[in-house]
Amino acid sequence: MSLKNRKIIVGITGGIAAYKTPGLIRLLKKDGAEVQAVMTDAATKFITELTIETVSQRPVAREMFPKTRYVATHHIDLAEWADIFVVAPATANFVGKIASGICDDLLTTVICATKSPVMISPSMNSNMYLNPITQNNLKKLKSLGYIILDPNVGEMACETYGPGRMPEPHEIHQFVRQFFEKKKSLSKKKVLVTAGPCREPIDPVRFISNRSSGKMGFALALAAHNAGAEVTLISGPTSLAPEPGIELINVETTEQMHKAVQREFKKSHILIMAAAPADFKAGKIAGEKIKKAQRKSLSLSLSTTIDILEGLKKTKKKGQVVVGFALETDNALKNARAKLKSKDLDLIIVNSLKDGAPFDSDSNKVTLVGRTGRAESLPQMSKRELAEIIVTKISKLK
Ligand code: CTP
Repeated sequence: MSLKNRKIIVGITGGIAAYKTPGLIRLLKKDGAEVQAVMTDAATKFITELTIETVSQRPVAREMFPKTRYVATHHIDLAEWADIFVVAPATANFVGKIASGICDDLLTTVICATKSPVMISPSMNSNMYLNPITQNNLKKLKSLGYIILDPNVGEMACETYGPGRMPEPHEIHQFVRQFFEKKKSLSKKKVLVTAGPCREPIDPVRFISNRSSGKMGFALALAAHNAGAEVTLISGPTSLAPEPGIELINVETTEQMHKAVQREFKKSHILIMAAAPADFKAGKIAGEKIKKAQRKSLSLSLSTTIDILEGLKKTKKKGQVVVGFALETDNALKNARAKLKSKDLDLIIVNSLKDGAPFDSDSNKVTLVGRTGRAESLPQMSKRELAEIIVTKISKLK
């Protein structure tokens, strides 16, 4: 039984394909899973609660505010209980609500509250499925990490022919199995990721910094964590929080990041240096706030900070993989290849500001350059998708 002890929430929305869902629940149960069904009101027009309760052997969750056994954190308990959500069938209305963050019933609220993976099987009339609004919603959900099962093409309940049919129960069962069986490409690996900007103080209230948001580094830490790695994230000041299970070390200055990286690198198989350390620091940090009264201008003398990656070249052991980033405004590839060589990197991810500034954006367009110098340009995509591609690439480096 490959789904033994897996906790699965099966969401059922109001589409004709709901008649197939009891078959799916039976297969999941037979395979060892615990199944909790959550139905929308519309779903109960197509299939009864009694049928679903009988096959799942549990009461159906449907009401946001049930009159009996009501606990205010009902939706959070469900959201935390599940190892995975499978919504089959998922109507255009449900897809639209999830993509817009609308929580107006138990199912949409629980999905909004969960950190578990969510698999969605859009099932609807072909015109509704192909409607650009539905397609945009599905694209958005995909880019946010939702798993979208493409519908089958065939004859629909409305006697039209096209895409929109919910896959058969045994097909969805296989998707769920494959999800859990997917070999974790970085299991037993220790991955060190750095993220965010560094701050170099000028006086007790002012600092020099840069525009890094930390989003790329946090996405990489999550992707490595999802690939089975033990992840330590060293981050400069950001407004982000890592997923539970990722160790976070907060630092502020480049010197602090340098010390933390040196200490943690010794224990790591892979380093992904996505942080933007400050390149310059104040030559002298004023002990008291620099007052502006009687000043027309202020000159700061700056000195360069330590280059963290450069410093690791001497300590890098055989088999350790080091990945860097390059942020360039001109001659992006030439400069990146030079950095790859001088910093002895296994892979460099090149951001060219000519392709648009990645700062604080949820998406990015990059080129990957490996040790051979060969460049692979990727299209614009979400930082989350990009992180998965980079982590897959890194897992194949040796
Ligand atoms: N880096 C580092 N220590 C620094 C500055 C940068 O380890 N003090 C790392 C970054 O995390 C990145 C890589 O070096 O992985 C390249 O950073 P980038 O800012 O593109 O280039 P620099 O090496 O700082 O060179 P320049 O500013 O001249 O482009």
